[in-house]
Amino acid sequence: MVDINNTNFQNKIISEKGFLDFNIDITLDLFLEINKLKKEKNAIILAHYYQEPDIQDIADYIGDSLGLSQKALTTNADIIVFAGVHFMAETAKIINPTKKVLLPDLNAGCSLSDSAPPDKFKLFCDKYPNHLVISYINCSAGIKALSDIICTSSNAQKIVESLPIDQPIIFAPDKNLGAYINKITGRNMVLWNGACMVHEIFNLQKITKLKIRHPKAKFIAHPECEESILALADYIGSTTGLLKYSQVDSSTEFIVATESGILHQMQKNSPTKTFIPAPSNNHCACNDCSYMKLNTLEKIYLCMKYELPEIILEENLRLAAKKPIDRMLEISAQYGL
Ligand code: 13P
Ligand code: SF4
Repeated sequence: MVDINNTNFQNKIISEKGFLDFNIDITLDLFLEINKLKKEKNAIILAHYYQEPDIQDIADYIGDSLGLSQKALTTNADIIVFAGVHFMAETAKIINPTKKVLLPDLNAGCSLSDSAPPDKFKLFCDKYPNHLVISYINCSAGIKALSDIICTSSNAQKIVESLPIDQPIIFAPDKNLGAYINKITGRNMVLWNGACMVHEIFNLQKITKLKIRHPKAKFIAHPECEESILALADYIGSTTGLLKYSQVDSSTEFIVATESGILHQMQKNSPTKTFIPAPSNNHCACNDCSYMKLNTLEKIYLCMKYELPEIILEENLRLAAKKPIDRMLEISAQYGL
């Protein structure tokens, strides 16, 4: 019989497999247990909109990448449970190192972040001297440490526009967001060739057909989508931007080109409206991020109970990665974002 209270056992499981993989009593009311643990441990659950509905419902705060970082910086909690992916939890630890930051499954990575290995990115940057490096927050601490300013999809435009028009810029790792920002700001940033696997698979023909079948529906898209998809959009924005638009716009139908988790909040906030996930090249049309969906209520319960897996960062790397995030937060505050 496995002793799950044994910390050495926990560490062994986590270091070998990167996640907690044992079964828990199925009769437990996980909502109740998680809420108890929150109080006992002064813990807060921060969740991204791409999390499964139950996780969104138990979270203390749900937001986009910018909102989640701002919340991670200002929270009074002792423990931050990050229901999101690794770069998000890592960002929380970088900006608020005295907190214990837990990620329910250490395997919750990100294809976009993986597309930029720091050693290759360093060589890329060396080819463009005098360029300022703006990196999208969906990257590792190693990439952040090589960057001058971090941005998210909700502040990228403002951050780029805050720089002189003749300032040469490298933008990484998302080529689609970079190309979109180039288009709306008239800049010519050098783009790293990275992309998100979820936002790259929307199918132009299927979306066009769906729009014909739903002529009154607004088509809304995340800027991580390819240019040909964005060209069809009535509105382009971060997850928070898409959610707000779906609330304030008078249309009653929306075709949504981003990860499907956001539909839960959209439907909750506008129960009388219809939200249709944009079709992708997948046959299931589920648009799920397999990394985001690694988190489950069970894993959240276990990670809060045993306070593992925890995000730990080497201090020099943390300090180097913090600088460009601080710049992002300062510029965002100046613009009231
Ligand atoms: P935002 O929530 O900041 O729009 O980012 C979307 C995303 O892909 C997060 O992984
Ligand atoms: Fe990364 Fe894309 Fe998943 Fe966001 S949706 S975590 S960018 S793979």
